[in-house]
Parts: sequence; C-alpha cells; structure tokens
Amino acid sequence: MVALRNIAVFASGRGSNFSAILDKVQTGVISARIVCVVSECEHPPVFDVARAAGIPVYSLNRRQYTAPEEYAAALLQLLERHNTDLILLAGYLKLIPSPVVRKFPHAIVNIHPALLPNFGGQGFFGMKVHEAVIASGVKVTGVTIHFVDEKYDNGAIICQEQVAVLPGDTPESLAHRVLEVEHRLYPEVVQALCEDKIKMIDRKVVWNK
Ligand code: GRF
Repeated sequence: MVALRNIAVFASGRGSNFSAILDKVQTGVISARIVCVVSECEHPPVFDVARAAGIPVYSLNRRQYTAPEEYAAALLQLLERHNTDLILLAGYLKLIPSPVVRKFPHAIVNIHPALLPNFGGQGFFGMKVHEAVIASGVKVTGVTIHFVDEKYDNGAIICQEQVAVLPGDTPESLAHRVLEVEHRLYPEVVQALCEDKIKMIDRKVVWNK
C-alpha cells in the first residue's frame, strides 16, 4: 500500500485543471490529499474553488520579498509546513525558484497546452499558445505534462496527447478541445505518480503499468 501523498497546487487562473484533480481526489480515484493552493496573484478565481473545498490558500509574490532567496525560503517553509510530497502547476505563470526545484526533484509537474518543445517557453501561456499554434499552420497540437526544472517548459516529458487543429479553428475553439484533454490527462498522471508508476531512468520518464 502506497502512502497518501500530500499535494500542493500552484495556480493563478480559473482553476479548471485544479477542479478536475480535486474531483478525482474527493471521489477516491486519486489517493492523495490536496494540502494547499499557492498563487502569485492576490485573489485568483482558483482560490474560491479551493476555499469551497476547505483547502487553505496562500498568495505569495516575489515582490513581497527583498531578495529572491527570501521568497524561495518562504515558499519552502510553506511547503514543508504542509508536508508536501508533490507540487502540481496548473496555470501557474512564474518560474519556480531554484531552491524549490532542488528540494523537490521530479516532484514538481506542469501541464502545457501544446506539444513541447514547440510553442513553449517564456511568454507562451494561455491563449497566446493557441494563437501561435493557429498562426503557424500546424495541423496537430496537444497537451504535454512534464517534470519541472529551472527553465520554462523544459523538464522531462511524462506524457503527451495530440489534438487536431481543424480548419476554421479559432484560438478559443482550439483551447476548448485542448482543455478537455487536459482535464482527463492531468488526473491520470497525478494518479500514476501517487501510485509510484512513474520513474526516471537515464533522464527519461518510464511508466510502470
Ligand atoms: C491550462 O491551459 C494549462 O495547460 C495552462 O494554463 C491553463 C490553466 O487553466 N498551464 P485552468 O486555470 O486550469 O483552467
């Protein structure tokens, strides 16, 4: 029997991925606790969803601290206070400070609404990703879930799923279909992580069935 994982979610938007994961935790599909939601924004909509579920929320912003080290220390202190095992980024736009990345090796995960390494990196977030996908003329986009390292959208890829770009797609219509895949895939990956089915071997992600 695998011990129940303590998950911290970092999110700054509406929190639809957070809600999809929360639902699977609440229904017992994912054996974990969501211990807190962290944002760099003051009042993101995701906080309302978390509060309604009785999950503590924290707004921590780099600008509140005089030095980057102090900000990283505050984040680490918060994560340690909640005995965090796993950090999930779900619409979190800031780079995770290096001390936090080092403290949680292969225990920080991000979801990106395109097929990395394309349409990723700094500045590629939200609707900008889908706008760039449509402008480029590619016929296939998708979802990438990956471990987080010290660069934007760069860590080892855990899984990817394709979504076709259809003639007449707008960024909004494409975002809608990509998001449907995100809501299915992210909880599946979190479940696999909580069941110890995902390992790193030779810097590649391997799934144990
Ligand atoms: C998703 O498209 C996710 O891939 C990206 O940010 C968006 C967050 O949406 N990282 P939501 O706040 O989970 O609804």
